[in-house]
Amino acid sequence: MMNGAKEMSARKTREKTRNAFWREPLSFRVFRVFRGQVLLLTLLFAASCTQKMADQPSLKPLEASPVFPDGRSAREPVKGTVPSGFTRMNGRAAPEQTFDQNATKPPFPVTLEILERGQARFNIYCAVCHGRTGEGDGMVVRRGFSAPPTYHSDRLRQAPIGHFYDVITHGFGGMASYANQVEPRDRWAIAAYIRALQLSQNAEMADLPPELRNELDK
Ligand code: HEC
Repeated sequence: MMNGAKEMSARKTREKTRNAFWREPLSFRVFRVFRGQVLLLTLLFAASCTQKMADQPSLKPLEASPVFPDGRSAREPVKGTVPSGFTRMNGRAAPEQTFDQNATKPPFPVTLEILERGQARFNIYCAVCHGRTGEGDGMVVRRGFSAPPTYHSDRLRQAPIGHFYDVITHGFGGMASYANQVEPRDRWAIAAYIRALQLSQNAEMADLPPELRNELDK
């Protein structure tokens, strides 16, 4: 009795499979019957392709070529190209310079123009994380990036601006180096601007020139 039922269901399954096979489109049926051969042909085809790819008519470095008037296959880099690992300075790529981590001022006089340059660079490269006031609440941080410390802590207020230059040049903990985006003179400009930001959040009345003090009193 049990055996009979089993045989019945086995036959049913076979029938179902057969019906399903004939219901499939012709191309599928052909593929099912010949799939072994199809696989073999694909493999052979792929193998012959590999050979051709390894042997392309491409030029090796420094090989001569009749295509260009100067007979060389290598082309000059586009004017203004900056090699990776370098920054652009006066139109030339300049290697890294040495600097003093304990410097309390840039190696050139800080003018209003320099501070404005620093402000512009800071707002482009740093404010996304550090916020426009240096509070550490930039847009990227508000979207979940780990928050940098505020610039207005006693520790960073007392840090020499050579430290800021060092952080821009080499990165710091979770912060990447900006040496490839910001050239040395701009790094000093940014460092000086950070000092200005710190003063802006922690100024005493006595720090102001008398004419401005009077303005505030009004
Ligand atoms: C992608 C976000 C991001 C950007 C952009 C960024 N920073 Fe930072 N910065 C951080 C984070 C995060 C820290 C804290 C790193 C840590 O302590 O691990 C940090 C720390 C610092 C510190 C404090 C170092 C210390 O002693 O605690 C300074 C200064 C600083 N950054 C300056 C800059 C300047 C200048 C720029 C622009 C050139 C800049 N950062 C751009 C994320 C950023």
